[in-house]
Amino acid sequence: MSRYVTRKFDYDKKDQLALEETLFHNANGYIGVRGNLEEGVPAAMHTMRGVYLNGVCETIPMKQAESLCNLTEEKETMVNVGDIQTVKIFIDGQEFSLFEGEKCQQTRILDMDQGTTNRDVTWNLSEGRKVKISVKKMASFVEESLFVLEYSVTAVGFDGKMKLVSYHIPEVCNYANPDDPRLAAEGASYLRTERIETRGKATGLSVTSTEKTKIKVGIMSDHQWNVRPESEEIRVENDEIIYEAIIPLESDKTSTCSKIVIFKDSIREKDVYGKLSETMDIVRKKTLDYYFESQRFFLEKFWNSSEVRIPGDEKLENALNFNIFQLLQSAPQDYYCSIAAKGLSGEGYEGHYFWDTEMFMLPFYVLSEPQVAKRLLEFRYETLGPALENAKLLGHKKGALYPWRTINGKECSGYYVSGSAAYHINGDIAYGVVQYYFATGDYQFIRDKGARILLETARLWMDVGNYHDGSFHIHGVTGPDEYTCLVDDNYYTNRIAQFNLMWAVKAARLMEEKGDFDQFSLDNKLTADELKEMEMAANAMEILYDENLKINPQDSSFLSKPLWDLEATDKSEFPLLLHYHPLHLYRYQVCKQADTVMAYYLFPDLEDQETMENSYRYYEKITTHDSSLSECIYSVVASRLGMKEKAYSYFGDSAKLDLENLHGNTKDGIHTANMGGSYIALVYGFAGLVIREEGLRFKPFLPDKWEGYSFKFQYRGKTYEFSIDKDGARVLYDGENITEADKIKILQ
Ligand code: BGC
Repeated sequence: MSRYVTRKFDYDKKDQLALEETLFHNANGYIGVRGNLEEGVPAAMHTMRGVYLNGVCETIPMKQAESLCNLTEEKETMVNVGDIQTVKIFIDGQEFSLFEGEKCQQTRILDMDQGTTNRDVTWNLSEGRKVKISVKKMASFVEESLFVLEYSVTAVGFDGKMKLVSYHIPEVCNYANPDDPRLAAEGASYLRTERIETRGKATGLSVTSTEKTKIKVGIMSDHQWNVRPESEEIRVENDEIIYEAIIPLESDKTSTCSKIVIFKDSIREKDVYGKLSETMDIVRKKTLDYYFESQRFFLEKFWNSSEVRIPGDEKLENALNFNIFQLLQSAPQDYYCSIAAKGLSGEGYEGHYFWDTEMFMLPFYVLSEPQVAKRLLEFRYETLGPALENAKLLGHKKGALYPWRTINGKECSGYYVSGSAAYHINGDIAYGVVQYYFATGDYQFIRDKGARILLETARLWMDVGNYHDGSFHIHGVTGPDEYTCLVDDNYYTNRIAQFNLMWAVKAARLMEEKGDFDQFSLDNKLTADELKEMEMAANAMEILYDENLKINPQDSSFLSKPLWDLEATDKSEFPLLLHYHPLHLYRYQVCKQADTVMAYYLFPDLEDQETMENSYRYYEKITTHDSSLSECIYSVVASRLGMKEKAYSYFGDSAKLDLENLHGNTKDGIHTANMGGSYIALVYGFAGLVIREEGLRFKPFLPDKWEGYSFKFQYRGKTYEFSIDKDGARVLYDGENITEADKIKILQ
């Protein structure tokens, strides 16, 4: 079975260009290259031309309307690091463009087995002549700094002469859209050229740097042909490197130019300039065939351990595997960075990392690529320093508060009401640490890094919360639902804080058992009394329950507000955030996304079935799902509550969200959290997986429309396969049924 996504170009749907730039982007967790048309597009088409390196960002001012004390006045923004995709061809003087002359036929393919994107065009030149153009691109999973662009041209039934011009432009602008709060408002150029040079006839090199963050970016490009060019030259002109080659085209013979591009940056390398040539030499020696083959081999291994199968429902299976592939493309190869809300596919949310990573993506990596899960958590450990600082800025005397949105650890939310106030991110990260530990048993990680994250995040809860009438309350925070802000005792926040506090204590006990506690307590000035206070606060945490409705209220004032009538709201008014002032939204019972229901996904055993069912039905009526982080969670919890049809329907929308552009903004980048969410909906929802300290528990069901489904997962270093069909569910290890083993249980 081959896994791919394909699209034919339709001249009546020009909007699809920007969308396809996202769907056909190439990334490997370090490099992200949007699927831009090499020759460019007319300016009026508003597409986003971009190349990104994970973690490479600039600090820019963020003007606050009033400079109130300690508001964030600066933010980091992901930098567009250069244009290495522009390639223009001229055949017998005629320039190739999709938009000039007779219409062309174009098909694009994302090949998820080869790890490449392919663009095939039939270009109809004047006098009935045809030229076939084929462009293959790859961001290598094996050599993280390598990107390849192969440009092939075939003159069909005629001889001709081609001029190919290839660009390497080190200073480019970021994308901007002042009308959409989810994008940057101004498009600036953040890199300044320090070095720009050419070598021989086909190689160019540039080193640029950002002004504030002082990050250097190095790019080296080289061109190789399968035919001998009649002439070739490379030059620097107006701070751009321009390569030009003249190729005699023989009828029906394919001429291919392979553009090899190496990226380096000073976050990861001391000598960016030197490393460029060193890596280029290695790549040239090994040959591109080696890298294409190793990409295929890498993916064969990946799919063997991560693929999801849904026999009989090819469409959903493909959609889900597309999402899984995008999670792989977004997964960092080191702990200098995390995963942005749009992965490396576009500039939506300016490349910021949110709770999306730990809550929506981590569950996939924990089960499929635990080493990636570990790196993501290590990134949080590495950025504990700025989180401790952030807590101080917000007036806390102890603890760390992770930023709501960030690139290198500092808070970047402009609007604190639905940004910095989302304190639940602390608990979300703590939850991620514990899930990783449960699934891998990696005690060493807890001892060396995880316990410190748990402790400092827990300390913050102790500082922000207070006792009143015997209960521990958390005031003035924003829960996951961004249409309800700055509230008291948000159910989700209190639950995750409770978990966070309990696990700070449990991790300490675990270290006590292993004999590591004394050192830890010394290093962190931790006393037995402090742990006791944390335990007390967790046990006394205010957990709201409404006797009349028999539901958990989202927060202490939520149920006293008027209900928003979603059925009576015109379709054109969604997402509400683009049509209503925030204050208006805050005064209604209306939710952007799963909030209390999200807590039920994380803690399925803390409320009785009836309360969860009542709450689910209550919140469902007032939830817009304007955030892509919502339907997947409604699907999981519907599965757990036995609402099979709902679970299936929400799952479908979540799985196809980007492929079918269901939110209309995939052009700005993929919805990486939702991609993880669709995986969660299947594995934690349909298959009912819960990961606990004692082991894994499945409580699966088979959607009526399916004959079965299966997926592989890793648990404590071993790869297992879960499958279910009409005859029941089973877990296999090495081909043997292991359902009886005590650590993995299936409740039929
Ligand atoms: C959601 C947040 C999310 C962010 C980035 C917002 O629309 O409300 O929960 O973290 O998008 O994906």
